[in-house]
Amino acid sequence: MAFEYRKGALCAEQVPLEEIARRFGTPCYVYSRSAIEKRYGEFSHALGKRAALIAYSVKANSNLAVLALLAKLGAGFDIVSGGELARVLAAGGDARKTLFSGVGKTEDEIARALAAGILCLNLESEAELQRVAQVAARLGKRAPIAFRLNPDVDAKTHPYISTGLKQNKFGVAYADAERLYREAARMAQVDVIGIGCHIGSLMTGTGPFIDAAVRIIALTERLQRSGIELAHIDLGGGFGIRYRDESPAPIREFLDGALGVLAGRKEKLIVDPGRAIVGNAGALLTRVEYVKPGAEKNFLVVDAAMNDLLRPALYGAWHEVLRAQQANESAAKTVYDVVGPVCESADFLAQDRTLAARPGDLLAVMSAGAYAMVMSSNYNTRPRAAEVMVAGDRAQLVRRRESVPELFSGESIPTW
Ligand code: LLP
Repeated sequence: MAFEYRKGALCAEQVPLEEIARRFGTPCYVYSRSAIEKRYGEFSHALGKRAALIAYSVKANSNLAVLALLAKLGAGFDIVSGGELARVLAAGGDARKTLFSGVGKTEDEIARALAAGILCLNLESEAELQRVAQVAARLGKRAPIAFRLNPDVDAKTHPYISTGLKQNKFGVAYADAERLYREAARMAQVDVIGIGCHIGSLMTGTGPFIDAAVRIIALTERLQRSGIELAHIDLGGGFGIRYRDESPAPIREFLDGALGVLAGRKEKLIVDPGRAIVGNAGALLTRVEYVKPGAEKNFLVVDAAMNDLLRPALYGAWHEVLRAQQANESAAKTVYDVVGPVCESADFLAQDRTLAARPGDLLAVMSAGAYAMVMSSNYNTRPRAAEVMVAGDRAQLVRRRESVPELFSGESIPTW
């Protein structure tokens, strides 16, 4: 287990969280190396000997330590910006195992990706195809491309993270796909190598994922009949994890389903999981500053806030809150909202939690390995948290806490 109580002290692997908080301060993100390795292993094991690539979705957690670890394990990467490409390369990732998704790639980003030798650009519109062809021509290169299809399948998840419906901005419409593929196949500057989709994040059942795979294969077959052969099929990410009491289907079930649909086909299978690899491998450590009783609600005011962990404010997401030191049986418990110091009513990390807590106590906000630090901001001029990786009995700082002066070091006051 990545996080468990040992003699009353909540530990990341073998290191007590209290010790991490003392050494590195709070708020602080902690990641378990072995938890990441284990989850990556589940994917690679489930894919077995099939030609496949696990392209970790960098947006979930882009700390260089996480990327370097996954690169070493053999992962490829799914990126959505030039910034993420730079991170992957800085962490020792392989551009030839990296796919570039996203609806708004700039000319500069496309050029950098081609110069780096990217595996594939996942295109999301006809206009993007034209742009990629122009940039490739200018660089004297052929651009490897795939279209991201919008299969119009409901991932049955939160509307903000559902991406495969007709009303979403993502992908090209199923009805337009054949025409776009034929157009691309005629272009000298592009190499049509794949097809992709991603229907949404935090799926719990395998049904929508498999429905999307079936639709993608049907299209792949039609393309094949018109002479367009593809090298890979990218089914995206979106595999759910447990935050509270959800029971997402095991990774193996998702992948067995995909492997079944792809049986007998020679294309390489690509998946791009993010959350499923890092989500439960991380926690956010925060200290209680004040206990504030109220007429309607009681508040635990902690030193982390919505700028550190936005998910509760943005999606109403539920993250488990645990005490770093187990309270003794007789300690008085109260129902609290766990809130930060930011001046917004949406600034809460958790609501209606029954806890025993006093000022100075250390809390751990669990399942904070994915879409947590990466979505943090400097709102209220709050320095971003430190990040620490744990392996066995070792803990190492993998990103230092920001300092206040650096938050405005890029600003200037006009001379007039
Ligand atoms: N592939 C593509 C093309 C994606 O757009 C995404 C996520 C993934 C893969 C990885 O999805 P995952 O396996 O991590 O579910 N901020 C939200 C999640 C946004 C997901 C965006 N796309 C949250 O905190 O829940």
